[in-house]
Amino acid sequence: MAWQETVILCNACGETYPIIDGIPFMVHRTERPQPVDGGFDAIAQVYDSTLPPHVTEHYLNKRVKFISERMQRGMVLDVGGGTGALAQRMMEAGYQVVGTDASLGMLRVYRSRTSSVPVGALAHALPFRSEAFQGVVCVALLHHIAQTNSVRASLAEMYRVLRRGGTLIIWDHNPANPYWPVLMKKVPQDSGQERLIPLLEICHGLRLAGVCSVQVFKKGFVPDFVPPVLLPVLQWLEEAVERIPLVRGWAAHNVVVVHKE
Ligand SMILES: C[S@@+](CC[C@H](N)C(=O)[O-])C[C@H]1O[C@@H](n2cnc3c(N)ncnc32)[C@H](O)[C@@H]1O
Repeated sequence: MAWQETVILCNACGETYPIIDGIPFMVHRTERPQPVDGGFDAIAQVYDSTLPPHVTEHYLNKRVKFISERMQRGMVLDVGGGTGALAQRMMEAGYQVVGTDASLGMLRVYRSRTSSVPVGALAHALPFRSEAFQGVVCVALLHHIAQTNSVRASLAEMYRVLRRGGTLIIWDHNPANPYWPVLMKKVPQDSGQERLIPLLEICHGLRLAGVCSVQVFKKGFVPDFVPPVLLPVLQWLEEAVERIPLVRGWAAHNVVVVHKE
């Protein structure tokens, strides 16, 4: 289907949007990437094998466990959900998940692996009504958005679409972790345009969006190069180190949890 073909009409703003391969692509025409561009469209087919399978499994299980312990079952929005690996696991755990992403290539993979239809959208302009979702998750997205204003606008959008009593979980790269510059040079999705977002900037953006209090966790020490046989030991060590004040400040991820009052 051609990019130019429009199917959806927004009666509020008059903008039209295409449905491409069954995926509503709700990105304003002035912000649409070219049909065949680099970035995530180009690497979508290999994205899921960027890390060794046992390491990918470790982080998926860790995230689903963390989310399940804090977020009620219900309708959840996965912002920058990529190929839908987390969405699929969350569905298996009893959530209904709507995935959104800016990359059509990533969304095509998402659509092929899950039973749900994802929506093309930019994080700073989510095409959903306010308070539509019981939960919002966002994993490894903000450092790709990078620009201060867009990061701020994206945080505000995630909070806007969250219903009262709902939970927002932001899981992003921790700039204090010394291994990121090494790993980011190795993986195809990182082009050098990224900016790791400091925890204080995330918290400040949330405060500007109206958030009164956040919980912060430091998560992840298992590196990509750990051999499968050593994974159980590393998992045990990771949990131990995540509990040590100061040292956990070097964890791979800042995880910010917001409960909307
Ligand atoms: C590193 S991937 C993470 C994907 C998934 N959350 C995961 O954990 O595997 C970052 C994703 O963010 C998407 N992305 C980048 N900028 C975006 C934006 N402004 N709005 C929405 N998605 C964006 C990319 O297309 C990509 O799929």
